[in-house]
Amino acid sequence: MSVTTEPTTARLLPGAPVADAVNAETAATVARLREAGVVPSLATVLVGDDDASAGYIRIKQRQAAALGFASPHTHLPANATQQDLHRVIAGYNEDPDVHGILVQYPVPGHLDYDAALLTIDPDKDVDGMHPLNLGRLSVGLPGPLPCTPAGIEALLAHHGIPTAGRDVVILGRGATLGRPLAMLLSQKRPTADAAVTVVHSGVPDWAKHTRRADILVAAAGVPGIIRPDHVKPGAVVVGAGVRYEGRRLLPDVDEACAEVAAAITPRVGGVGPTTVAMLFRNAVRAAERA
Ligand SMILES: NC(=O)c1ccc[n+]([C@@H]2O[C@H](COP(=O)([O-])OP(=O)(O)OC[C@H]3O[C@@H](n4cnc5c(N)ncnc54)[C@H](OP(=O)(O)O)[C@@H]3O)[C@@H](O)[C@H]2O)c1
Repeated sequence: MSVTTEPTTARLLPGAPVADAVNAETAATVARLREAGVVPSLATVLVGDDDASAGYIRIKQRQAAALGFASPHTHLPANATQQDLHRVIAGYNEDPDVHGILVQYPVPGHLDYDAALLTIDPDKDVDGMHPLNLGRLSVGLPGPLPCTPAGIEALLAHHGIPTAGRDVVILGRGATLGRPLAMLLSQKRPTADAAVTVVHSGVPDWAKHTRRADILVAAAGVPGIIRPDHVKPGAVVVGAGVRYEGRRLLPDVDEACAEVAAAITPRVGGVGPTTVAMLFRNAVRAAERA
């Protein structure tokens, strides 16, 4: 007897409603702080005249204003020196009215972005990527959380996908995504508590692991690397890794995975919006702590 199974189409897990819920909480906290006489403030720094970067900064400033933040801004010329950049960061570090600092990536090629990030006061690091904050995460101390991993935890929780006790497999051990996500989802907390496996290019048969994942997170930055035969039928697939070719976004997850998974992030508008919401959540929490 032959059994035919119709291809199913997975439930989509959009990031926008997650971001809306996180932003609503952030706006409420901002309002409460303002009533208490504290104006939460997120400072932004742009170096050079790249149109796309200037556009991203404008979007973040508009969103900061909509949430009630003050958003002082410094625009340095394209020929600014590393010392100029460090001087601006130092000024915001020392300013008690500034609670978060964001340096727009990328900076012009002659500047060292990572070196600049190291000079940000870890308590004002809204990206949550300062080594001190990654250290805090690893030992469970409070502090700004890396935005994309925190956004993925919020996305799963918001869409009612349990993680506790389940097999989460992450493809990618990068510092911004795979590694901190593994630390976050293995913490003792109802929205984490997962059995996390991290695979990477040092594990040639990584598909053996992804095929048993209840939740599979693509964090490699290799277009189309996750194919339907890498996914357990009925699994949840989170596509976080992307590569840009010009303005074209090329996700890690092949679209056909939607025919195998039970739930999947959309090609566009999945993890991205939650990342930005976490940036503002980090900023308002920094203001609360200050
Ligand atoms: N959606 C968002 O908001 C957001 C935010 C941050 C990052 N991202 C994206 O997330 C991705 C990862 O970022 P990242 O900074 O963590 O990158 P990364 O440091 O380059 O890490 C990529 C990881 O993928 C692994 N990998 C690459 N090719 C592989 C292959 N063929 N087989 C197995 N493993 C492979 C690498 O293995 P090795 O360690 O062995 O080299 C590495 O661990 C990027 O696409 C980035 O654009 C998205």
